[in-house]
Amino acid sequence: MFFQKKTTWHKLFESVTDANMQVPEGRVFTILVNNKKICVAHTPEGFFAIQDKCPHNGASLGNGFCTAQGSIVCPVHRYSFDLKTGRATSGGGDAARTYPLETRDDGIYIGFEKTVWF
Ligand code: FES
Repeated sequence: MFFQKKTTWHKLFESVTDANMQVPEGRVFTILVNNKKICVAHTPEGFFAIQDKCPHNGASLGNGFCTAQGSIVCPVHRYSFDLKTGRATSGGGDAARTYPLETRDDGIYIGFEKTVWF
């Protein structure tokens, strides 16, 4: 039995301008994409996507805030997570899932990876 990783891409924003208007730099935002709640953060390094549900106790990371160091801070217990890797940068050893973003001519897309067996 073999498996393959497949990524499906979903449009998040119509353009970079649209993304900048919806999520200004320094802000975070929760969006529902393909029945998944995703937290989008805009740091000085650009946009990042991470699961909205905090791995510690389920709060919405989209109600938190991002730091200039590239972490997102949960609004409830203030644990923080690296926006690139999802690893905890404070608090417990939990990790959040991160998602790739891709800027194309017609918008910004998020990738959801899944394993396909064949
Ligand atoms: S629920 Fe997020 S740190 Fe506890």
